[in-house]
Amino acid sequence: MLFKTTEQHEEFRAKIREFAETELKPIAFMLDQKNEFPDEIVKRLAEMNMLGIPYPKKYGGAGLDILTYAIAVEELARIDGGTGVILSAHVSLGSYPIYAFGTEEQKKKYLVPLAKGEKLGAFGLTEPNAGSDAGGTETTAELVGNHYILNGGKIFITNAGKADTYVVFAVTTPNIGTRGISAFIVEKGWKGFEFGDHYDKMGIRSSATAELIFNDVKVPKENLLGKEGQGFKIAMATLDGGRIGIASQALGIAQGAFEHAVEYAKEREQFGIPIAHHQINSFKIADMATKLRAARFLIYSSAELKEHHEPYGMESAMAKQYASDICLEVVNDAVQIFGGNGYLKGMEVERAYRDAKICTIYEGTNEIQRVVIASHIIGKPPK
Ligand code: CAA
Repeated sequence: MLFKTTEQHEEFRAKIREFAETELKPIAFMLDQKNEFPDEIVKRLAEMNMLGIPYPKKYGGAGLDILTYAIAVEELARIDGGTGVILSAHVSLGSYPIYAFGTEEQKKKYLVPLAKGEKLGAFGLTEPNAGSDAGGTETTAELVGNHYILNGGKIFITNAGKADTYVVFAVTTPNIGTRGISAFIVEKGWKGFEFGDHYDKMGIRSSATAELIFNDVKVPKENLLGKEGQGFKIAMATLDGGRIGIASQALGIAQGAFEHAVEYAKEREQFGIPIAHHQINSFKIADMATKLRAARFLIYSSAELKEHHEPYGMESAMAKQYASDICLEVVNDAVQIFGGNGYLKGMEVERAYRDAKICTIYEGTNEIQRVVIASHIIGKPPK
């Protein structure tokens, strides 16, 4: 169990914090208001070798650890929740399944440009009838000669349209449940692969989210990821790690709002003293700080478990569920401390309040996290 980050981790944090403060902060409100994807920021992250943080150098990555990646997501989300999830979806969801389950050829062709940041990645699992019940996938992939023919669609896909490489899940053998699902690597630009309009979201508005539409898309046989029928397990294993990213995003959003609230509470005076020293607020600040610290330990320790190839699925679900639950509490308290000022557009805490909510919903709702945690402890319910 890790109780302290290393000097290298904190040097890395200082570097990405400086970047986020100087390059992301000045445009964060504009991105939110215009629903605009931060192309330039993503380009800069690639230049700084941040898009393949936990992947080996031989695959174009930075060769750093999972904890460093978690810190990167946290620090970006401290300034802008949307940018945090762009990195998380690219590293954890778009790149990881290729790293963990791809052949050497697939890694050379797809992982290397993803890890170098030359290409952006995404993950297509969710469908209108397969949300929490991911096994209800209806998109199909039928093998015809040397190609699978992909038909169907995905919804709520982070990085949709902006990403070049998509890991997509589809049914290859109908009527046998999760064991009939397979994973494929699909490229933007292939005939029949289109995108829906970008959603107009409550928060994380700098991130691109849209539908994927597949109409007779010819996917070469060699783009099957893993074996036929292994797709659901690939999706689940990928989400185990993805949840560390979303937990880090939630932590970053909450940390940012907390810092603004503390600063404001120390300056704002009512009844002749800074409002921070009214016990109602000082206790709030104490509770916020405690929750942040607890969430950070859950996240960093699950990152360390993953790094050391120890089981971490239950721990990452705990981290995601707890960090996103407390994120909502912390941003709510932050807006409360700001009073009417916190309710105004242009205030960071107002944006954090909107950005926070999605963290309890995506990459498995917090209800599903509890299903995952409980099943690790008591097993699945009897049939
Ligand atoms: N790793 C590897 N294998 C796993 C696994 C894991 N973590 N979890 C389950 N499996 C295996 C099981 O062992 C089982 O294998 P067998 O067929 O050999 O028995 C198989 O997968 C089926 O498992 P379950 O019976 O447990 O599956 P289920 O249908 O009951 O579903 C669930 C379980 C946990 C509810 C799952 O459906 C789930 O996680 N749902 C949530 C989906 C989700 O998180 N979606 C997020 C979309 S991505 C996103 O949101 C991205 C974004 O925008 C940023």
